[in-house]
Amino acid sequence: MPDVDAQSVGAVVVLAAGGGTRMRSATPKVLHELGGRSMLGHVLAAAADAGADEVAVVVGHARERVEPHVAQCLPSARTVVQTEQLGTGHATQIGLTAITAASGTVLVVMGDTPLLQSAALRDLASQHGVGAHAVTVLAARLGDPTGYGRLLVDADGQLTAVVEQKDATAEQLLITDVTTGIYAFDLAWLRSALPRVGHDNAQGEIYLPDVVALARSDGRSVGTVRVDDPIQAEGVNDRVQLAAMAAELNRRILEHWMRRGATVVDPATTWVDVTVSVGRDVRLLPGVQLHGATTVGDGATVGPDCTLTDVEVGAGASVVRTHGSGAVIGGGASVGPFAYLRPGTVLLADAKVGTFVETKNARIGLGAKVPHLSYVGDAEIGAGTNIGAGTITANYDGVAKHRTVVGRHVKTGSDNVFVAPVTIGDGAATGAGTVVRRDVPPGALAVSSGPQRHHEGWTERKRPGTPAATAAADATTAASAAEQHETEPIGQTGDTPSPEPTPKPSQQPDEGTRT
Ligand code: UD1
Ligand code: CA
Repeated sequence: MPDVDAQSVGAVVVLAAGGGTRMRSATPKVLHELGGRSMLGHVLAAAADAGADEVAVVVGHARERVEPHVAQCLPSARTVVQTEQLGTGHATQIGLTAITAASGTVLVVMGDTPLLQSAALRDLASQHGVGAHAVTVLAARLGDPTGYGRLLVDADGQLTAVVEQKDATAEQLLITDVTTGIYAFDLAWLRSALPRVGHDNAQGEIYLPDVVALARSDGRSVGTVRVDDPIQAEGVNDRVQLAAMAAELNRRILEHWMRRGATVVDPATTWVDVTVSVGRDVRLLPGVQLHGATTVGDGATVGPDCTLTDVEVGAGASVVRTHGSGAVIGGGASVGPFAYLRPGTVLLADAKVGTFVETKNARIGLGAKVPHLSYVGDAEIGAGTNIGAGTITANYDGVAKHRTVVGRHVKTGSDNVFVAPVTIGDGAATGAGTVVRRDVPPGALAVSSGPQRHHEGWTERKRPGTPAATAAADATTAASAAEQHETEPIGQTGDTPSPEPTPKPSQQPDEGTRT
């Protein structure tokens, strides 16, 4: 949701060199994901949306993974390496070497505050500018301030210094006003101040918050901006916090779409990435996960129990118990229950992919239907065509993939195999059980199964004494008794007659030949 009217906030330095020991992970902390993006990705998006003139990311721990990730999230950002993690002040000093501006404002943010929004950064930058401060601290008042740097104030209530958890006295630990770790600085002053910060503290680190006290001793003013929504500035240090933040982010995303007219029946089991877009009068039923670039058009219903990644759901479509990725579902189309849409699937308007159907790289035409138990891969199904139950496109010959093209208004029988490459012409039909190995001309009926033959009395001869033989004998006796009494002949059983005529053996297609 980028803000097009974004005013500049100056330069931004993102601190992301730490290892994140408390995550106990082979993956660097800032690359852990929530809401469909890494923590660092969220912070970079906030910086970009806020209108940052330039962004520098300080990397160190696992930088071979973090650097390409930065390039992917925000190609304009520069990365700069902090080889030894000597503290946030040291990291900031290194970050500034990658900032080209000589003056103006620089914001410093942490890579582990994924809920930070661009509006909070813009507010911080603008209040910093108004006050002409050397430092403006984004502050929060927390119920439990454990782990955060505490704000120390003088008799006039002016901020004088920040003391870290590990350096605080018992009395200072009671302070609930903290620094979020996010600051706006006068860039030129910060460049002069950082080399003067020492490391005489409990952790032996160069602390960024120590510049607050330096500003006061330089006779410069220090401002604070209290964030009214502290979770935005909350850092994630372990996986328990990650899960809690992911749940809160999801709650906010769902609220956003509900306020814009979508119904979310069960927010507790509905997970929507920050990159997804949901239209008006959409209904998300329980157990839905929408990921990546998924979009849901107005009036569509998704769920229950769907996982869609990079899927475009058209207006008014219905998607039920479906796993899909890289697919396009046209307006008014119907998918599921129990469908698997793989990449390259395109359903045009009002098309249907039904129950236990898998599709891949397939284009299903306007109003075309694949209702039951089928695999449609590397295929094109024309408008108004109906594919019979249990149809397989045999698209792979063990070496290469081949296409099946089915024309418009075709009606294929149940249990067909289309041995690709093969084309079925417009308005053609196929009988039940057909193995289509050769192109079917438009309007033709293709059949490949042989004529049905009966070996009379087979069960009684070959399976004597079985319940089946007894049943057959009983039925035969009853039938001949009925005939003797000249009653009505036994009628049809109610089964639909097969649509295919029984071809004469001479008309059988040659199944061994492919042309
Ligand atoms: C830090 C702040 C604390 C603040 C809190 C807010 C300091 C000394 N402490 O504590 O005042 O209340 O954040 O969440 O600034 N990093 C580097 N290089 C380093 C050290 C850290 O890049 O040498 C990065 C980390 O990757 C991380 C961020 O800086 O993204 C913060 O480091 P972390 O160790 O999480 O600091 P906190 O103990 O949370
Ligand atoms: Ca932290």
